[in-house]
Amino acid sequence: MRSPSSEAQQRERIPTEIYATADAGAQAIATEIAALIRANNDAGRPTVLGLATGSTPVRLYRQLIRMHREEKLSFRHVITFNLDEYYGLPPTHPESYRRFMQEQLFGHIDILPENIHVPDGTLPRAQVFQACEQYENAISAAGGIDLQVLGIGRTGHVGFNEPGSTRESRTRLVTLDALTRRDAARDFLGEANVPRHAITMGVGTILKARRIRLLAWGEAKAQITAFAIERPPAEALPASLLQNHPDIRFAIDRPASFELTRIKHPWLVGPVTWEPALVRRAVAWLSLETKKPVLKLLEEDYSEHGMADLLTEQGPAYGLNIRIFNELQHTITGWPGGKPNENDKYRPERAHPHPKRVVVFSPEPSDDVLGMGGTLRRLIEQGHDVVVVYQTSGNLAVPDEEAAMATDLVLELAGNGGTSKNPEAVFAREVRTNLQQKSAFTSDTPAIRRLKGLIRRGEAKASLKACGVPVDRLRFLDLPFYEKGRYRQFVIEDGDVKAVADLLRELRPNQIFATGQFNDPSSVAAVCFETIRRALALTKDEPWQQESRMWLYRSPEKDWDAAEIDMAVPFSPRELAGKIQAIYQHKSQRSQGPFDSGLHEAWQQAEQRNRHLAKVYDRLGLAEYEAIEAFQRWR
Ligand code: GLP
Repeated sequence: MRSPSSEAQQRERIPTEIYATADAGAQAIATEIAALIRANNDAGRPTVLGLATGSTPVRLYRQLIRMHREEKLSFRHVITFNLDEYYGLPPTHPESYRRFMQEQLFGHIDILPENIHVPDGTLPRAQVFQACEQYENAISAAGGIDLQVLGIGRTGHVGFNEPGSTRESRTRLVTLDALTRRDAARDFLGEANVPRHAITMGVGTILKARRIRLLAWGEAKAQITAFAIERPPAEALPASLLQNHPDIRFAIDRPASFELTRIKHPWLVGPVTWEPALVRRAVAWLSLETKKPVLKLLEEDYSEHGMADLLTEQGPAYGLNIRIFNELQHTITGWPGGKPNENDKYRPERAHPHPKRVVVFSPEPSDDVLGMGGTLRRLIEQGHDVVVVYQTSGNLAVPDEEAAMATDLVLELAGNGGTSKNPEAVFAREVRTNLQQKSAFTSDTPAIRRLKGLIRRGEAKASLKACGVPVDRLRFLDLPFYEKGRYRQFVIEDGDVKAVADLLRELRPNQIFATGQFNDPSSVAAVCFETIRRALALTKDEPWQQESRMWLYRSPEKDWDAAEIDMAVPFSPRELAGKIQAIYQHKSQRSQGPFDSGLHEAWQQAEQRNRHLAKVYDRLGLAEYEAIEAFQRWR
């Protein structure tokens, strides 16, 4: 194992740089690539790059395009080899990696077409083996790869080297892992459409590159990234096989670093400064680790878990336990909008004003009820003036079958055997024709998208009705970035920020709820959060904002850790059932039947998560509830 560059990194087997944002990380790698290309250009040598697809490298490619346009970075002497391609997809297919590369990079720089190499996904099965050999030979003939860019999949795959790939593996046809196919389901509009096989460079091919730079952004990648960096190399986790490469570096953003020991449990790898937030995190962790409620932790529990210095500094255990217990206790409230006429010194939210003007931002319809359906109902019941704002239409996530059913319904209603001339019928016929003509290679027409958006509006209304929210409290922004974009490739424009800012100015909320941006910086939720952040920056001097508080809720994929929570809203079994009922109204978002392996429906995930959090609070020695929704205060 290489020697670590600092005490805190002693468990890390791969040099890892943590950047404040994904853009900063992408910028650093782009700068390195540009320097390499320039040095080779000056020396009259070609530069051979190994390239990756997925949402991760998009930011890197945007930087390279910018450098080409603004800083005269030339790719005329760059030769590229892409890692992989879906087997069975022609290069024209919207999800083919060849097309992705054209749209995200090649189409915007001066690279020569003959220097581009992407495995061919259209070859007949009998020719694949030989073509893979030729791919390896072409890499060697070009002089080998100077720098290989990688992302990482949630199974720990690099390229499409799924668990089980060997260190020696070469370019070959592989079968995709179930989790990988599920992760790709959104892009392909349903798991059933995701190819089962792919052609990928091998781990051995990647290891031959002279430099390897792996990028990872967002909390969804935190665990697998930490495993790849800190665990002994194993074929079960292909990225870990890169550990002994002589010139490898991981560039990750803050959220992707959350599971590294130096970030998550820094006290285990050296002395730390015991800031209040860290103390809370450490004590909660100790309680769960030793399976003892906070109030029962002993001096020896602390010292046996690398926290002796915390006791020396802030002990004895008895007093420290009580302090943290109280802090955790004070996060719990049945009054998410504040409890009027009560002392609010130890409550998460202020008592006044009451009622409050509350804005709940939901990136797509259904995020609101999934993340805070129980709290939403409470806010209404406690008399607050709640407006739910759906930032995007969510139309990309509606299966064609739902749209077809809606067109049939409209045409049936219009009568005349479907030939009616009324505008609704004309529209429905247009959608129907568009759907019939739609192939795997085209995106939805504006008419289809409009109808799909209306379907989600209807579901959102039904869902909020189940939460007790009056229908006139809904706003649909249909933000343009979403209407113009595709998954993983959204770009915010001024119009998006303006729409959110105008709304905030109009509603002047005392309290805002929004989903955080941590899980995946290219997700709809993250882009929506960014529009809110920028809108708040635009309106920062307006008086309403000085008195406004923003709370973050989370999507069902991942909850907060107990120690990160600032407000925990418990609810009863009946209220939990009400929340599930509300989620259930989003019918187009349920799994699409036996071809979707989605182990859990969204409502099941949300239910499980809320119950789990209640258990965690119980284990910490706080009260025992049925379910809890949690929030973090945004500062
Ligand atoms: C795909 C690609 C990988 C990529 C991974 C992660 O499976 N074959 O090369 O690293 O997905 O994708 P994303 O960057 O979108 O998270």
